[in-house]
Amino acid sequence: MSSFFLLVSKCLQARDMAYCPYSRFPVGAAILTADGAIITGCNVENASYGLTVCAERTAVQRAVVEGHTRFTAIAVTCDIKDRFVGPCGACRQVLMEFGSDWIVYLTKPDGSYKETSLSELLPLAFSPAHLAKN
Ligand code: THU
Repeated sequence: MSSFFLLVSKCLQARDMAYCPYSRFPVGAAILTADGAIITGCNVENASYGLTVCAERTAVQRAVVEGHTRFTAIAVTCDIKDRFVGPCGACRQVLMEFGSDWIVYLTKPDGSYKETSLSELLPLAFSPAHLAKN
């Protein structure tokens, strides 16, 4: 299977693992690393609602602890069938920490997708480069 189809299928599988008893809104994410690994995440909710972690951020944190900080693409999916849904603003910022060059595949439950990019989703972003001393 090509990396792309594997990425989409892993993202859909990750959504099925979502822990979302409060919202009942499962989300899955799968990151393709620069060296070809795929790391997944799902949303993990909490009874103290604000402590919920989105699927995309779960995936980023899992990737970092596995030694990955260079990323090529992320696929994201939820259960909405009739439109493509993008990552929340907080997740866009967290992805930007690791560069603006990510391809983002907004994926529907049937596996269809819309390709976009992080720079398109978060224009004029604040990034680590801005912390460099003048
Ligand atoms: N959620 C994500 O996992 N990713 C997003 O980009 C948007 C929202 C989750 C958080 C919460 O568990 C549920 O979706 C409803 O907001």
